[in-house]
Amino acid sequence: MSAMKNQVRTTISLSTLPVRQRHLLKQICRLADERDLSVYLVGGVVRDLLLKRGNWDLDLTVEGDGIAFARLVADRYGAGLAVFERFATARLTFPNGLKLDIATSRRESYAQPALLPTVQHASIEEDLSRRDFTINAIAVQLNQRQFGRIFDPYEGQRDLCARTIRVLHAGSFLDDPTRIFRAIRFEQRFGFRLERTTLHLLAQAASTNLIQRLSGPRLRNEILLLFAERNPVLTIARLAQLKLLRFLHRRLCYVKNVKQVVSAVPKALAWWTRRFPDSVIDRPMVYLMALSSESSPLVVATMIRRLALSREQAKNMRVGGSRIDRARKRLTDARTIRPSQVYRLLAGFSGEALVLLLARQVAMRHEVLLRRLKRDLVSYVKSRTVKTSLTGRDLQALGLKPGPQYSTILGKLLAARIDKLITTEAEERAFVRKWLGERNVHDDHR
Ligand code: CTP
Repeated sequence: MSAMKNQVRTTISLSTLPVRQRHLLKQICRLADERDLSVYLVGGVVRDLLLKRGNWDLDLTVEGDGIAFARLVADRYGAGLAVFERFATARLTFPNGLKLDIATSRRESYAQPALLPTVQHASIEEDLSRRDFTINAIAVQLNQRQFGRIFDPYEGQRDLCARTIRVLHAGSFLDDPTRIFRAIRFEQRFGFRLERTTLHLLAQAASTNLIQRLSGPRLRNEILLLFAERNPVLTIARLAQLKLLRFLHRRLCYVKNVKQVVSAVPKALAWWTRRFPDSVIDRPMVYLMALSSESSPLVVATMIRRLALSREQAKNMRVGGSRIDRARKRLTDARTIRPSQVYRLLAGFSGEALVLLLARQVAMRHEVLLRRLKRDLVSYVKSRTVKTSLTGRDLQALGLKPGPQYSTILGKLLAARIDKLITTEAEERAFVRKWLGERNVHDDHR
């Protein structure tokens, strides 16, 4: 990173942090000094300060009882407090909305690989030594007399300068296999490279079945974090290259068709968010759907279970395969299609599913059909705001007996509204009367 200018520093000014954060840290330091506790800023925020990247997730480590200190801070400043005894950490939420994590500096031991560790109090140096990569194992002291002093026993700065991801010890990936995914996350995010031994250790850990021992939520979290990075297409290619996709499903392959759909997602997302800036799309989910878009329903069902996906995510995954593609084909095969037909075809699909549908079409590289599909999507989103004036109650007032015919007639009214065949309430009433008349005639003839 040019920001690092190949220099290893001994101090850092925290002046690039926003004023509110800086002010808060100063106050906390005063409190730590009063109690004679050493307090450090640690983790990603230090790395990002050195890289001159914005990151306002403040993580503090206290040499001593972090939770007791967090309680003190919470009392003094009226902050909300959530304590996680098992991990010796606490999260503070200040009245102005700022959040701060305070941990006890600790050593961790892994009773069994891939499971969560047990923790014991330890020095800051030991605390840093249990961390994932050298670039994440740098601390900045916050006590008044040493404010801004960098503590970098594992030469994290050297690796930041060399743009390298390096583990601190050979057992790191085995202790915590989520680090396999974290390594790729940082590598891709910063455009760094995995140091040779680290890459070797990663491949070694990935060749075991340790990742399979990770719980569903932990694996899901890592995968979705990876897909939330700026360029998930490169990340997915890297996962494939390192043979890591098999942990989502042993038969998941990055074959040409899948690659084409995944590669088309950024374009589809860009168009969608430009066209519908207010719609909220779960981007990582779209990538996961694209990745499994050519998989059989059985494979998808296994992935859903493995990743312990939520009901909504699971629903997206299930429609992401052939169902969404059937809808795409029906839309693009039809010569002319009424807006109400487009509506009927697409109603019920989530935003993520529609973006995937578009991505599948982008992947087909057929400009004319793509333009038509985009028009259909715009028409569909507009149709979603169309309402009928008449309600079930109005139908009752018109003398219609309540029953399934209500949804039939309201559906027909809505379709006529969407197609602009009727535009007023009076026309709706006339439509209903006519429909009733036709029905009666029809019934009389039976
Ligand atoms: N950490 C670790 N091993 C893990 C997870 C976290 O050693 N499996 C340590 C690292 O020192 C990391 C810190 O805990 O920097 C905070 O973790 P987290 O907030 O997950 O990561 P960040 O480095 O802050 O990354 P991001 O910028 O993605 O939030």
